[in-house]
Amino acid sequence: MTKPIEGFSKLTKNQKIDWLTTNYTADPEAAKILLERYWNVNEDVQQLHDEFIENTITNYYLPLGIAPNFLINDKLYAIPMAIEESSVVAAASKAAKFWLDKGGFKTEVLGTEKIGQVHFMYHGSKEHLTSFFEQVRSKLLSDASSITKNMEKRGGGVNNIELRDKTDALDNYYQLHCTFETLDAMGANFINSCLEQFAKTFKAEAQLFSLFTEDEKAIEVVMSILSNYVPNCLVRAEVSCPVTELKNGNTETSQEFAEKMVQAVNIAQVEPHRAVTHNKGIMNGIDAVVLATGNDFRAVEAGIHAYAAKDGQYTSLTHASIENGIFRFWIELPMALGTIGGLTSLHPLVKLAMELLGKPSAKELMQIVAVAGLAQNFAAVRSLVTTGIQEGHMKMHLLNILNQLGATDEEKKILTHHFKKHPATHSAVVEAFEKLRNSK
Ligand code: MEV
Repeated sequence: MTKPIEGFSKLTKNQKIDWLTTNYTADPEAAKILLERYWNVNEDVQQLHDEFIENTITNYYLPLGIAPNFLINDKLYAIPMAIEESSVVAAASKAAKFWLDKGGFKTEVLGTEKIGQVHFMYHGSKEHLTSFFEQVRSKLLSDASSITKNMEKRGGGVNNIELRDKTDALDNYYQLHCTFETLDAMGANFINSCLEQFAKTFKAEAQLFSLFTEDEKAIEVVMSILSNYVPNCLVRAEVSCPVTELKNGNTETSQEFAEKMVQAVNIAQVEPHRAVTHNKGIMNGIDAVVLATGNDFRAVEAGIHAYAAKDGQYTSLTHASIENGIFRFWIELPMALGTIGGLTSLHPLVKLAMELLGKPSAKELMQIVAVAGLAQNFAAVRSLVTTGIQEGHMKMHLLNILNQLGATDEEKKILTHHFKKHPATHSAVVEAFEKLRNSK
């Protein structure tokens, strides 16, 4: 049995790989070759990747695709998407093209407020705590000035600090609920540094507050951390057109198609099982752009799903309506993104993605990402209410199956042609592949 290892992080990369492959793989030499094959040939680039995280042994590649023809507020974008799932980029591109001659996507940032909290326990009089907070408020800000001064110079900083009584939910629990403007930075480091300083000042000043009893002075800070739930860092994206323009190439009339789209969205609004899958499709677009632009997709995911449940039931992030002959389809969702700092200035492909998008501000990136989500949802729901999802999916999946089967380029060509006319289910592909191989 493999023994635990001490000091793994201190080993060199090759030593880590030796230990790992020897202890956990059947063929260490083959595993080593595989890991090395994915190292970047450029040593500087590889070192950069090695240093993004700890204990790096190789790089894990995802395809980076492009969805062109996105008209957003009258500007054309080719959107980079990093994603492993087939058909997502194709669907985004299709939706972009669909809306290109219908005015494209219109977007708006509705707010940019970020949030962080100092969570603490306090045993004592609420009035004393309130007086203390009022007295200490300006010192909280002035003690953090070395952290905030650069952000303030650029027009951002701490917007507000509020004392919140949460004792109804948990005995003795209070918060400093703080709001921030972090401009083009996602702001995690800035916010967390401010919060930790607020906590330090808050505790220290409590010792000096004359109204506090000894028990009241013992404010117990539990943690200081940003919140990934940012309901006031909000973006909206929309498409609309006369119903008559919604030609779909299928048998339905435009009106029937528009009505089905609205019904599908309405179902996702009232039925959480459907809403989760509906929103998953939205996240296919959102995560792919968030990842390609070096942002934190887990933070974005967490915040968006919380927003989808903000009224007590998990619901659709998109909305659709038909009014006066106009079909309207829109999304409203929160997200905290950065276009400076973090990976955005380090990862070579992230830098390129930013360049492709015209070096967007965080606000512009919010709008692009929201559009990617809306487009993805439009494409998915459109397929669902017309041909069904499998037709497009299986065609896109065909190459993956053929690659798994080890098909040659020639075999791929023959079978891709064959499956233009036949449903490309997994078993049908395997059968056709075997037949073709055996016929030789
Ligand atoms: C698959 O990744 C996403 C969909 O299931 C989304 C949806 O059902 O709306 C197609």
